Amino acid sequence: MKIIYATSEAQPFAASGGLADVAGSLPKALVEEGHECIVVMPYYVNTIKDSHKKNFKYVDNFYVSVGWRAQYCGVFQTELNGVTYYFLDNEYYFKRDWGLYSYYDDGERFAFFSRAVMELIQKFDLRPDVINANDWQCALIPVYYNLYYRNNYNMQNIHTVFTIHNIQYQGRYGMELLEEILGIPQYYRSVMEYDRDVNFMKAAIEVSEKVTTVSPTYATEILDPWFSHGLDRILKGKEYKTCGFLNGIDTDMYDPEKDATIPAKFSVKSKTGKKTCKQKLLEELGLPSEDDAPVIGLVSRLVEHKGFDLVKNVFDEIVGLGCKVVILGSGEAQYENFFNEMHYRYPDKVSFTCGYVPALAKKIYAGADMFLMPSKSEPCGLAQMISLRYGTIPVVRATGGLKDSIPDYGEPDGSGLGFTFQTYNAQDMLGAVRRCTELYYGDKKAWGALVTKAMKADFSWKRSAKLYIGLYKELCGQ
Ligand code: GLC
Repeated sequence: MKIIYATSEAQPFAASGGLADVAGSLPKALVEEGHECIVVMPYYVNTIKDSHKKNFKYVDNFYVSVGWRAQYCGVFQTELNGVTYYFLDNEYYFKRDWGLYSYYDDGERFAFFSRAVMELIQKFDLRPDVINANDWQCALIPVYYNLYYRNNYNMQNIHTVFTIHNIQYQGRYGMELLEEILGIPQYYRSVMEYDRDVNFMKAAIEVSEKVTTVSPTYATEILDPWFSHGLDRILKGKEYKTCGFLNGIDTDMYDPEKDATIPAKFSVKSKTGKKTCKQKLLEELGLPSEDDAPVIGLVSRLVEHKGFDLVKNVFDEIVGLGCKVVILGSGEAQYENFFNEMHYRYPDKVSFTCGYVPALAKKIYAGADMFLMPSKSEPCGLAQMISLRYGTIPVVRATGGLKDSIPDYGEPDGSGLGFTFQTYNAQDMLGAVRRCTELYYGDKKAWGALVTKAMKADFSWKRSAKLYIGLYKELCGQ
């Protein structure tokens, strides 16, 4: 099968969140299963490093309709791990100074990109069996396919899958964009319109043949208004074509046995390296490393739905349990200020690094004992899986992919990999942290066994890649 994976970001080229990890590892896993996979993404000239750009080959250019205008689109190509990448170039849209998104014209930028993906497929005669479009930025791909391309001679029988990584970001704009910018005629208005706005994600849900999301639990959660950011009303009617596959992680990239970016390597058989990682982490962050206190790691965007109001609420109690807390992330000022303040209140116990520092993130995964993710909602979450691989025990709220990947230590069948709590409540979260800390201090042997189990847990892409392939095959009637 030939699959086109359309995404607005992919590791190792350009990343702002988990989507980039998935787009950087699922295509590779599809190729390993014997299929052909092409990734198409924007050419962010200022973001992609020269070390990658030097391997790009310019192939061609063409013009793309954006409303009544025609915009240039250059095509660059590279290969990595058996996957072909096309980067679509237009400096007006993608040569920006900071970040990948949050510009006033994002709607137009990604309408251009989505239309350009269609043009690429047609001009290059790519004839894929399936296009898997991801999140709102690529949501117009199935829309344009249905409107303008599906009857063209080399564009027939392409199947469309739309994957929701986070339902919070939908691509909502004023109705005036419809014809002028998106080039979508009035007779298609009902597909695009939702709550009096143009809504990219809603349109993709409407017209795609299948809708997937990144964990089975999230696939059911988004039918509930508490999680759906308004889209439950449309999703309820589309349950017949919606499903959830748990993401995996790139187990080559995250491998404590081979990872050269952590201070000492370690494995299930020989865990002394993990102790070194802990000590070096504390030293680097200026925290005392002599005592045996457990280290809780937090690596996240500091935004509300990640559960930081719970952390704020019982922070003193967590420190009171004898824990050190190491935080890395940036986001809302209220949380950045809070963690700065906590660092000043507990200089020997709390460290806060404000920013996005992948190298430090790795050291925290490897050097911490516990990893806290109290998310209000979490479509999948990757950090809990990475932590497990590095023998760091997750403490999570049982929602979305966290629920699907982290069974509780208390489960009678012994399947537990971490500590979970159900209700979005600070005391419940504290209870889970307390249970985790008690095991750490109280039963070293059981703790060691849990760490081993965590490291052995398999969250590679193998299983989920097969699920995607099964879905693609179903669409192709194979
Ligand atoms: C989004 C979600 C996250 C998920 C990731 C990859 O960033 O918020 O939960 O793991 O996408 O699918």
